[in-house]
Amino acid sequence: MQAIQIHGGTPLNGIIPISGSKNAALPLMTLCLLTNERFVLRNVPDLADINTMKSLLEQHGASIKTLEDKNSYELKVENLISSEAPYDLVRKMRASVLVLGPLLAKYGKAKVSLPGGCAIGTRPIDFHLKALETLGAEINLKSGYVEAKVPKHQGRLRGGHIVFPSITVGGTENAMMAASIAKGNTIIENAAREPEILDLANCLNLMGAKISGAGSSVIRIEGVEGLSGVNYSVLPDRIETGTYAIAAAITRGNLKLINTDPNLLEAVITALRISGVDIEVSDRSIDISTSRKIKGVDIQTEPYPGFPTDMQAQWMALMATADGAAMLTETIFENRFMHVPELVRFGANINVHGKSAIIRGSRDLSGAPVMATDLRASVSLVLLGLATHGTTIINRVYHLDRGYEGLEKKLESCGASIERISIK
Ligand code: UD1
Repeated sequence: MQAIQIHGGTPLNGIIPISGSKNAALPLMTLCLLTNERFVLRNVPDLADINTMKSLLEQHGASIKTLEDKNSYELKVENLISSEAPYDLVRKMRASVLVLGPLLAKYGKAKVSLPGGCAIGTRPIDFHLKALETLGAEINLKSGYVEAKVPKHQGRLRGGHIVFPSITVGGTENAMMAASIAKGNTIIENAAREPEILDLANCLNLMGAKISGAGSSVIRIEGVEGLSGVNYSVLPDRIETGTYAIAAAITRGNLKLINTDPNLLEAVITALRISGVDIEVSDRSIDISTSRKIKGVDIQTEPYPGFPTDMQAQWMALMATADGAAMLTETIFENRFMHVPELVRFGANINVHGKSAIIRGSRDLSGAPVMATDLRASVSLVLLGLATHGTTIINRVYHLDRGYEGLEKKLESCGASIERISIK
């Protein structure tokens, strides 16, 4: 099995280029199911989750070519081979459920495995299904699968008024993609406002969709007959950006993050500034430096534009090294403190009370053998490993390969001692 070994305690210094956003690229890739024309996507990060999505789309009938660089793909679906998303692929990656809306809208049927439980909570897809029912789909749950179809007499999905009971990123994406080629108009209320939703809407509009309001909580969609191909570049990864900003802060170093957009992570930048980190932003880059003490700062995770749940574990790692205490409250997922027992192995002082954790910062931490539990949790172990003296060995690193392109290379180029090793 592979593990990551870190000899920590060195401040990071250098430049890190930010990759395309995983969470934007995944739904964008499924758009190839909405057109028969050539669909080119650029700035796609080279990650395990992207490969899973490629396998899923290929078994639906997509031909996928890698273009001149490893981050650009041409996707084309001439004939649909299968409208089924099998359990084996969906269980690997929950975002596989994003094929449901496009398949249903374009081909009138879809059979998608239920994602099941996952490490950070039960994560049902009931809001996705309700939204698609509002657009006229007939949905049955059978033998662990969602079987969805458009009734014959109806021909296509029809526009409808969707009100999400609470904010769901994937649900908003599935509904928006399905409604783009439905008959008539759709309104989505209480829509997610994440930048990835806006990126998806921008791409759909270039393909001929008529979507307005994406990025706000009310999205209006005028259904069109069909969509054309497109050549589109994925937006920068705001979670990767935030993670490396914390890497600079936690090692008390200086990093310049390029090919990114500071506007995508205002909540994280604000929290870092309050904690004492110096941050300068320009159009496409962020400079992070540390000349002062880092103070404990309370945060609460919230849907965008609030502090992202995908940055919670990284913030906890930083707070474990701060002066003073911080309270961190997780409001999106019910079981997202799996990293706490692992961070405690470094000597971190963390107590969990329900949805909140109290972290009492300390400089008396040291490297330790630990185990990755989910994607963002595992990167918090890397961060604390980089910050603390001694050797850290992180097991189950496949979680990291799902979400961080070239992690070791990027960190190594800034002075980190980090390598992948094989262990029995
Ligand atoms: C997306 C992101 C993930 C991020 C999350 C929240 C992708 C590929 N993944 O996940 O990295 O952590 O947004 O920002 O973009 N819920 C229901 N019923 C549903 C759908 C969601 O109860 O039908 C609940 C979930 O269990 C969770 C909350 O709503 O508690 C938010 O989930 P959602 O926004 O849907 O997350 P994802 O789209 O799965």
